[in-house]
Amino acid sequence: MNFKTSSDTQAELDMSKLPVHVAIIMDGNGRWAKKRLANRVKGHEQGLETVRVIVRACREIGIRFLTLYAFSTENWQRPKAEVMALMMLLKMFLKSELKEMQDNNIRLTAIGQTERLPDDVRSLLYETMRLTEKNTGLRLNLALSYGGRSEIVKAVQEIAVKAKSGELDPSEISPEVIAEHLYTKDMPDPDLMIRTSGEMRISNFLLWQLAYSELFITDTLWPDFTREELVEILKDYQRRDRRYGKV
Ligand code: IPE
Ligand code: IPE
Ligand code: MG
Repeated sequence: MNFKTSSDTQAELDMSKLPVHVAIIMDGNGRWAKKRLANRVKGHEQGLETVRVIVRACREIGIRFLTLYAFSTENWQRPKAEVMALMMLLKMFLKSELKEMQDNNIRLTAIGQTERLPDDVRSLLYETMRLTEKNTGLRLNLALSYGGRSEIVKAVQEIAVKAKSGELDPSEISPEVIAEHLYTKDMPDPDLMIRTSGEMRISNFLLWQLAYSELFITDTLWPDFTREELVEILKDYQRRDRRYGKV
């Protein structure tokens, strides 16, 4: 496989051993801003630039699925002004990237309680998803108003309704049945989960799906994260031995 590269290191990647699905907890925008004595929103703006860089890098490298944790169910509890700024940035991103997505065969999808998003953001999101629905290249999946626990609760409720109506026998409930009721039902589980800014926690991200993902936590703050560091992490991933409990 051949592609233009801005990084020599990328040439060392083994194209036959790329993670199919990369998931990222994009953390540290606030700390990035604090270090510069700037408003947290400044950090989110810079974080959006990193999103553009990393989406492009994943597409060029050949990653099939990229899930970005952009807003958690818990993030609704942040100050109203910060929540509004994040929603505004999301809108800006959707508007400014549509052409880039269409030109590069990127399909945009979302997971989470998207019905909780403000009307204008939600309609633009659904419209972008519809417009890019037929694209077959990179699948850019945004976790928006996403929480792993509420995702599992929703799945359990749907399964319970089916069990009650007789559509499904409780003995038939299996990991596959549960997975089919998650937001990620048409996606493979992440092979690699990256968290920026050093926190050693999952923060309610993809609780079910991360069961056997390789984890990589970097101290780099999300606005400082680069394509070069992503490539280094992919190389680290390729050196790992995924045993899945076997020997
Ligand atoms: C991640 O950066 C962005 C969102 C959670 C929306 P933070 O805003 O959590 O940044 P820190 O953790 O305060 O540095
Ligand atoms: C996780 O980061 C959520 C997103 C990156 C969207 P948080 O900053 O919200 O998580 P905690 O508070 O450190 O656990
Ligand atoms: Mg944070």
